Amino acid sequence: MLNNPPRLVLAPMAGVTDLAFRAVCRAFAPIVTVTEMVSSKGLVYRDAKTARLTALAEGEHPAGVQIFGSDPACMAQAAAIALEMSGADFVDINMGCPTPKIVKNGDGCQLMRDPELAGRIIEAVRSAVNVPVTVKFRRGWDKGSLNAVEFARMCEQAGASAVCVHGRTKAQMYGGAADWDCIAAVKAAVGIPVVANGDICSPETALRALKHTGADMLMAGRAAFGNPFLFGELDAAINGRPIPAPPAPSQRAHWAGVQFGLALENRGERPAVLEARRHFCWYLHGLPRAGWLKAEIIKMRTREDAYEALKKMAEL
Ligand SMILES: Cc1cc2nc3c(=O)[nH]c(=O)nc-3n(C[C@H](O)[C@H](O)[C@H](O)COP(=O)(O)O)c2cc1C
Repeated sequence: MLNNPPRLVLAPMAGVTDLAFRAVCRAFAPIVTVTEMVSSKGLVYRDAKTARLTALAEGEHPAGVQIFGSDPACMAQAAAIALEMSGADFVDINMGCPTPKIVKNGDGCQLMRDPELAGRIIEAVRSAVNVPVTVKFRRGWDKGSLNAVEFARMCEQAGASAVCVHGRTKAQMYGGAADWDCIAAVKAAVGIPVVANGDICSPETALRALKHTGADMLMAGRAAFGNPFLFGELDAAINGRPIPAPPAPSQRAHWAGVQFGLALENRGERPAVLEARRHFCWYLHGLPRAGWLKAEIIKMRTREDAYEALKKMAEL
């Protein structure tokens, strides 16, 4: 698909992996990034809020723009618009989202129940753009319909350049353990690159996932919350270098501050501060005796409050 891409991917996560967070993750290792999922209808109707989600940072490559929807013509048009707006290196199609609002509309993981329509969407998007098209999906809808292998074959046939498999069913949502056997089975079944996703959260799990699945690339999601350092650790592990030491509070505060500064620039004070409430708490994860600071963070209202919290974080 892409020419010799990095082997690590930051998972697209709506409401989390915005431009600011992707930028701090990129500071720790060469990674592929993907935007949060973007509504194809929103793009086609030229909704301004939707369009904002497609923005990439300067120099953010390789990066994909992820779109969702279930109407082939709308998806094709949306892909072209998203590509033009973002200058992304590839277009990723979301066929894995389990959120009730999304699947009720026939989008996201619902497409795993209609592979024929899913194939038409992939073909339509492919013919609308001149960059690789990738598909992200799950192990299946539920335990009774585990169709990742057939679905991956269909994606390849329809012209996808790579697939990303999250080893959980739609019914599992984000609970339980991810099944990596199905990713290994997909890898054995298709000739295009396969990205393994689900429960990759440490150097040890990354190495185990690579070995278990034979996947070409690894995608990490929730373990990166407040933890862009993860990518430095994963990169060291897969390249046989020593794992960097865990980040000190001052380092956490520094990078939380870099992320906040970018969010301020991009979104303005109010959204940046509201989002920083979550992100800053995540940056404190695993630090003992930080409860009192979390209680202050969730009440932050202004940029001054945020800078004050960062100062306290650095001194923990
Ligand atoms: C808050 C949140 C938002 C997500 N948003 C998206 C999304 O926009 N597009 C997508 O393909 N997957 C989305 N996902 C799924 C992740 O990309 C990933 O597949 C999942 O979290 C499993 O990986 P993990 O075990 O490393 O977290 C989201 C997950 C979370 C927790």
